[in-house]
Amino acid sequence: MNILLGITGGIAAYRAAELARTLTKRGHTVRCCLTDAGSRFITPLTLASLTGQPCFGANPDYHEWRPNPIIEHIDLARWAHVAAVVPATADILGKTANGLATDLLSTLLLATTGKVLWAPAMNTAMWNHPAVQKNITTLRSFGHTFVEPVEGLLACGEEGAGKLADLDDIADAIETLAGPVHPAFAGRRILITAGPTREDLDPVRTLTNRSTGGMGVELARAFRNLGAEVDLVLGGELPAPWGVRTHRVRGAQAMLEACQAVWPHADGLVAAAAVADQRPEVCAPEKVKKVEGPETLVLVRTPDILATLAAARRPGQWVLGFAAETENHAANAAAKLARKGLDGILVNDVSGGRGFGPQANTLLPVTPAGAGAPLGPLPKDRLAPAVARWWGDHLQG
Ligand SMILES: Cc1cc2nc3c(=O)[nH]c(=O)nc-3n(C[C@H](O)[C@H](O)[C@H](O)COP(=O)(O)O)c2cc1C
Repeated sequence: MNILLGITGGIAAYRAAELARTLTKRGHTVRCCLTDAGSRFITPLTLASLTGQPCFGANPDYHEWRPNPIIEHIDLARWAHVAAVVPATADILGKTANGLATDLLSTLLLATTGKVLWAPAMNTAMWNHPAVQKNITTLRSFGHTFVEPVEGLLACGEEGAGKLADLDDIADAIETLAGPVHPAFAGRRILITAGPTREDLDPVRTLTNRSTGGMGVELARAFRNLGAEVDLVLGGELPAPWGVRTHRVRGAQAMLEACQAVWPHADGLVAAAAVADQRPEVCAPEKVKKVEGPETLVLVRTPDILATLAAARRPGQWVLGFAAETENHAANAAAKLARKGLDGILVNDVSGGRGFGPQANTLLPVTPAGAGAPLGPLPKDRLAPAVARWWGDHLQG
């Protein structure tokens, strides 16, 4: 994706360098455009070095005659799939809301017919000023998207709203805005389960597993990017991705109940959570004291979320499961597919500690038609989009 990153004159401009790097690492082509004030906070050399692309804007030649001129504001406006201004000052918001074009960035923001995203950052009083809020209302009426600033300690020493939003959220919003949608998912509601469940023994001890929820969170991002409306039922501690309705849960029973609230309204289920099969029969109300000699822990079965939802589905709803196997991957997956009535299953080879944490992973896709070509090895943030595309293509037949 071609991303035009506009950087204006706020203290948060230094964070735009990290965003440019993040977007480049995610495989996008990023060209930065600095305002004159922006170039006093961060240099074109930093941005050009991080993106591998020329940096525009803080260019004294912009209004000068040149032979064979490239009309930069039109050229860049046509090139960009999305123009994102991060950080956006009160000044640039006001200019664009009122149709002013006084430098390269403000001019190309008027010239673009593509998507525009703003991530403002400023002092709380500036952010709350009616003039700024009025300009934001105007820009929203043009169809522009905002990733609003968050509350926090500002560079001016004040505490309040105005701090630049989380960079991952901004990167996610940019990708969601301009990414290609998949016809199988556009406008569809998809329920995704992710993460470990935790079954408590007492107020301080818990039974859980080594899943982080990383794959499920990346899947939520991937399906969202392809146009789906995603509900993520999430165990564990990972932060919720931007633009995804996240329901946080602890135990298997809570996960089932959260899923059951969404499932009747969903078009499909991606069950990526590592749900505990057993829980302690009792959760002691007080911390259990140690005793001498062997102890016995009585475990009982937790609900089978995948089988319960698959059995309750209405016509047209699809179910995609995951299986963690250490041996006989394809055969075990085919048996699980049939037993639970799934439409597809992705097999994770977890032998020797594989499949958990940050390392590259491979998934074997299995449908009632048989096993397909393995997806990966890829890191989870690239494997998840491959899974979503494979499944979308499969649904399209
Ligand atoms: C040290 C300093 C920090 C500033 N921080 C911000 C800021 O965070 N947000 C903002 O809207 N303006 C901020 N300003 C004001 C802008 O730099 C000023 O309005 C400038 O004209 C913006 O130009 P631009 O929108 O073309 O980049 C700051 C100014 C200075 C000197």
